[in-house]
Amino acid sequence: MIDVCFTRAEVRPAEVAVVVDVLRATSSIVQALASGYERVLCCESIERAERLRGLGRVLAGERECVPPPGFDLGNSPSGFTSPLGTEVVLATTNGAPTLVEAAKAAERVVVAALFNLSAAADAVRDADVLLVCAGTDGRPGLDDVYVAGRIVGLLEGPRTDSARMAECVAERYPDPAAALAASKAARNLLEVSLEDDVRDCGQESIHAIVPEVVRADDGVAEVSLPQRT
Ligand code: MLT
Repeated sequence: MIDVCFTRAEVRPAEVAVVVDVLRATSSIVQALASGYERVLCCESIERAERLRGLGRVLAGERECVPPPGFDLGNSPSGFTSPLGTEVVLATTNGAPTLVEAAKAAERVVVAALFNLSAAADAVRDADVLLVCAGTDGRPGLDDVYVAGRIVGLLEGPRTDSARMAECVAERYPDPAAALAASKAARNLLEVSLEDDVRDCGQESIHAIVPEVVRADDGVAEVSLPQRT
């Protein structure tokens, strides 16, 4: 069955959870691993991230779209194109805690954005899939539902009403950039002059990688590129 959760509050047990926070956490994770970082430690809170500060670790994230005080980077995918260390410690408002929650409920957790759309869909074909939209401040986000709907459209098999609804949203926007731009998350970024991030995150299937949670414990979900046979 293919199903969609519109917010992280709806996360339930599943064979595979595919977490989507296209603006911007999952786009940044895909970009960081594609650029050569070995792993991204996704934290449920700023405090948890600060406790992981260490050699070779780059603290990144946002509160209200801007870097938390004392952090090395914000949450712009363009900030992750040249590695500044070996690991990213990421604390964001919605995406990072959603990965932590999904890892508690699902057997396997995959990270998806438009950047790795085709690769992510290919990686979960034939599974019982729960697409988890991070949403924006506890509410469904058009940007994430659009990407979830695009992935549903690439999968075959029975789908729930939620999955059909996400597909309808995706069909409404032939241009990914228009879907992202119409979202509350994009308006939040525009308010702090980060509209370039919205444009960047609209690029489709530019990375053929599928990040996964490889370990999760104590408020941290470790994401990397596992070797699958
Ligand atoms: C989040 O995880 O809340 C986001 O990705 C928000 C942002 O990047 O500003």
